[in-house]
Amino acid sequence: MLFAQLNKTSCKTYLVGGSSSSIILIDPILEHVDDYLDNLSKKNLKLEAVIDTHTHADHISGSAALKDRTDCQYIMHENAPSQCVTKRVKEGDIIEIADIKLEVIESHGHTRDSISLIWEGKLFSGDALFLDDGGAGRDDLPGGDSAKHWVTLEKFRQLPENLVVYPAHDYREREPSNLARQKLTNPHLKKRTQEEFEDYLNDLRLGPADWMKDVLKANYSCAQDISAAWIPIDAPSCEIKGTMDVGVNEIEVEAISVEDLALKITNHETPIMLDVREPLELRSKLGHIKGVINIPIGRLIPHLEQMSDKKEEEIIIVCRSGSRAYTAAQIMKKAGFKKPLVLNGGMIAWNMI
Ligand SMILES: [Fe+2]
Repeated sequence: MLFAQLNKTSCKTYLVGGSSSSIILIDPILEHVDDYLDNLSKKNLKLEAVIDTHTHADHISGSAALKDRTDCQYIMHENAPSQCVTKRVKEGDIIEIADIKLEVIESHGHTRDSISLIWEGKLFSGDALFLDDGGAGRDDLPGGDSAKHWVTLEKFRQLPENLVVYPAHDYREREPSNLARQKLTNPHLKKRTQEEFEDYLNDLRLGPADWMKDVLKANYSCAQDISAAWIPIDAPSCEIKGTMDVGVNEIEVEAISVEDLALKITNHETPIMLDVREPLELRSKLGHIKGVINIPIGRLIPHLEQMSDKKEEEIIIVCRSGSRAYTAAQIMKKAGFKKPLVLNGGMIAWNMI
């Protein structure tokens, strides 16, 4: 049996294979298509099929490109709007390729074409269920339906509890764990009436996501160009804003201008600076400010304990444009940090002075 998660980012792509060289990719991403193909060729593996668990709204799928470049099957739910899908599946179908057998479960709600897949003790849950406090994908995009999501979650509650959940996203490096654990740790899986579920979703106060509608359109039309839709790097996407503790979104935080920060540095005031971007971004064209501590936003909460001696100090929080830093400052303020300050405009502004 072959199994791997292929991406280093919050979007997850899974490789599954049996005893032969035939493999399937679940939720491949367009920008990694060349890497996938290089790796498969190095390992003499043959891509037989790609499966999208749903029409994605936060990245462009790599499935259309992989289908065209390898002639593999492209499998999605029968409701999927994409015209380049070659095989359409529904509840209870078994996707059988070589000795790989995946059972299809309709898991609508996040989208009307969502499926989850059961294979070898694993539940590939798409965005119908994330891990732990990540909750699940949002239901307020075109095709989303919270009533259907409630039905899906009830269905998940009935599945064997030893199935390990592998979601299409994870923003905080959580470890996959089984449904028994998820019932304890994932707020979406809490037993609720449908009405209570609606109240719970309303309390999440999801941020705006108009850009996601353009990504959906790109995926409907089988886009193979990563610039087919604008995808903000700083977007909290489904989760960071969406499932934070109730109340965090309302916390007001203060900011500092890039000029004032530059002055502090010139005056050797040596403020504590926390950069909440991903490590790769610090090495990108925008660079980073000398002396920053780097903790990506997704890993901030578990690191706060180690910073508890700095609760009274001014901490300047940096990201690309200021959006993630704002969220980080809200999280820190909620955790008792007295003076988190957002660097206004982030590294984009810093690079302009
Ligand atoms: Fe999604």
